[in-house]
Amino acid sequence: MAAYEYETHDYDVVVVGAGGAGLRATLGMAEQGLRTACVTKVFPTRSHTVAAQGGIAASLANMGPDNWQWHMYDTVKGSDWLGDTDAMEYLARSAPAAVYELEHYGVPFSRTEEGKIYQRPFGGHTTEFGEGPPVQRTCAAADRTGHAILHTLYGQSLKNNAEFYIEYFAIDLIMSPDGVCQGVVCWKLDDGTMHVFNAKMVVLATGGYGRAYFSATSAHTCTGDGGGMVARAGLALQDMEFVQFHPTGIYGSGCLITEGARGEGGYLTNKEGERFMERYAPNYKDLAPRDYVSRCMTMEIREGRGVGEHGDHIHLNLSHLPKEALAERLPGISESAKIFAGVDVTKEPIPVLPTVHYNMGGIPTNYWGEVLNPTADNPNAIVPGLMAVGEAGCASVHGANRLGSNSLIDLVVFGRAAAIRAGQVVDRAASVAAFDKPSVDKAFDRFDTLRHADGAIPTAELRLEMQKTMQADAAVFRTDKTLKDGVDKMTAVAGKMADIKVTDRSLVWNSDLMESLELTNLMPNALATIVGAEARKESRGAHAHEDYPTRDDDNWRVHTIAHVDGVKVTLSQRPVVLDPLTSEAEGGISLAKIAPKARTF
Ligand code: FUM
Repeated sequence: MAAYEYETHDYDVVVVGAGGAGLRATLGMAEQGLRTACVTKVFPTRSHTVAAQGGIAASLANMGPDNWQWHMYDTVKGSDWLGDTDAMEYLARSAPAAVYELEHYGVPFSRTEEGKIYQRPFGGHTTEFGEGPPVQRTCAAADRTGHAILHTLYGQSLKNNAEFYIEYFAIDLIMSPDGVCQGVVCWKLDDGTMHVFNAKMVVLATGGYGRAYFSATSAHTCTGDGGGMVARAGLALQDMEFVQFHPTGIYGSGCLITEGARGEGGYLTNKEGERFMERYAPNYKDLAPRDYVSRCMTMEIREGRGVGEHGDHIHLNLSHLPKEALAERLPGISESAKIFAGVDVTKEPIPVLPTVHYNMGGIPTNYWGEVLNPTADNPNAIVPGLMAVGEAGCASVHGANRLGSNSLIDLVVFGRAAAIRAGQVVDRAASVAAFDKPSVDKAFDRFDTLRHADGAIPTAELRLEMQKTMQADAAVFRTDKTLKDGVDKMTAVAGKMADIKVTDRSLVWNSDLMESLELTNLMPNALATIVGAEARKESRGAHAHEDYPTRDDDNWRVHTIAHVDGVKVTLSQRPVVLDPLTSEAEGGISLAKIAPKARTF
């Protein structure tokens, strides 16, 4: 057994991750007087939320008629009828209050002439239950909305005495023999010390796992650390096959060009200069949802109408927009286009390509953020002491496809919900229960084994093999053959973890070891994704299966549950929650309105 000395810290709540969801949860916990620690592997304001550009969805109706029922309808349709109805209602209903709270905390939103929060159109957000024109629902701080939110929430959390443990890497969850989460074991990156955070509630807010792919808009830190810890604890992952490709990653670098660019009037063209989205989505054109636009772009390229020397990308045109509008509303992407594509957006189109952007799947939770351990008898059984929020979690509010700007609102609504729930279930007066020592020892053993790994394959090499495999075989379009090949290849790739080589054995700023730990987290996420995709014999949302081109509600309107043990993935299913929180008589949305139908735009 590996002998590491460690310091123990007792808290009511430990939040792991300091992006939008982690900080909103931390703030909400601290505001209620819960002793709260936020443990994060990067400085809070460097978390990936800082890169969120276009905005946060809420039916404020500042720019025209809107209401939460229309927002809920769009979210249901956007999810391709895989989202949990209670969670989608909770999101749409709570969104306006959550955004006004942000405003009052100090988020510097862009303003209308009258001084209201400025809102722009985003894909899939409509009026009149999808029958009316696009709505301006996405509240924006220019094209740096995530940056504005993150800085505000960090400041507010400090003001409310939340305690931050910065550049601490979470190795594993501490689980009692009877399945209660009791804390998390961490490695402090800058001095090599070890820490056990012992808590009444652990909240995983560790973000997505975009870096399982070769080309992603996600930061290099997006390594699915929460999902990895959950999988090793024998708990479930849900709907991992649904991976969102954002239509406009910059060709080559993958850097995000916000959907707000199309919201402000930008449009896509093929090599003939044709605005091809008019053909595929006559009503909403470039503002159809992302899964749809990404597929249309891919079809244009496949059919020989891509732009560039190799005909392998698409143009995003902004040069017809007034220079002042570009400077005021889209300054960030104007700069990114210059740096990463060498393009002056006032004169030339930006070369773009669908790029991995978001994981709809994750750790299954209810709409309070409580982690589920679905069993045949009880698909909604709760794991005591454990919550997950933000992209790490799967509430499931995005189902098979997320609408743009529904991510930032997910972060704050469910971060806030987790805090409300923790305020109800955490007993402030009780002392923190003693943690299970064998569970801590197991975490240190795993850490030590990896630290001294002396195989033949460097971490970076194996990571690249995983990324290339996922990129090729779990892409925008999938077939039985690519998925079967992908499962075989990914199983072999994951098997090579046993032959990994870590060169640096030190404990201080050992990025080789940290990246190896991250790879142990990426791997189960990637495996669950491709195995889940291979099993799902239909097309739904981001899962576009060429051998099964239509949605099959009779057999597949169901969540995929994956348990990953080494290279073995065991799948089961969990029913989709069909009941909303409130009935039509109580002011809720009518069930007839949200009944499944063909998804056209
Ligand atoms: O396009 C964007 O600005 C991204 C927004 C989102 O993913 O919600």
